[in-house]
Amino acid sequence: MKGLFVTFEGIDGSGKSTQISMLSEDLKKEGIPFILIREPGATPIGEKIRTILLDKANSKMHARTELLLYEAARAQIVEERIRPELEKGTVVICDRFYDSTVAYQGYARGLDLDAIGYLNRWSTDDLKPDITFLFDLPEEVAYQRRNGREGAEDRLEAEGLAFMKKVRDGYLEMAKAEKRIHCICALDEPEKIYEKVRLAVWEVLRR
Ligand code: TMP
Repeated sequence: MKGLFVTFEGIDGSGKSTQISMLSEDLKKEGIPFILIREPGATPIGEKIRTILLDKANSKMHARTELLLYEAARAQIVEERIRPELEKGTVVICDRFYDSTVAYQGYARGLDLDAIGYLNRWSTDDLKPDITFLFDLPEEVAYQRRNGREGAEDRLEAEGLAFMKKVRDGYLEMAKAEKRIHCICALDEPEKIYEKVRLAVWEVLRR
């Protein structure tokens, strides 16, 4: 495949949206074709699944139901959006991908990591990100940042600090094991963080 698949990860409130906007602006300025999509979502089916997943009224959702809904949305976004764009040579920026499932449904909800690994490979038909940025910060700081944000918290954000700590620790474990995942301290100024993102993306683009 000719394009570049870049994913952004982190606990809610880690500042990934700011970094995604900065990268998008930069690619636009440089005239590099890209698309920006989010998981779950970015397809009519995926957006409907997203609404179900994030609705706080769905408090009865079982962890396995949750896992399968994320995987269902993922199967759709891969076939409908990501693969066709990569084949055209586009840079695909995805706000979250399957590492979120390992961190949230695996490490935080406690579902079996091997089963999640299998489902992640199966739902994507083995598509892997070329490069992943993980924005790391203490869950308390992320929580404060989220409190200053517009809009009500969703079903996952409402899980609380202990849950977010498990998500964070899970992400850190994954970053230790996978070279693809660039772990960046999210406490720095956005411009300083973006320098690291830019450096890593352009290094791969030049290959
Ligand atoms: P967002 O708020 O970053 O758009 O993501 C939606 C929420 O869904 C966020 O709290 C993280 C969560 N999530 C999972 O629990 N598992 C997943 O596989 C994905 C993609 C997101």
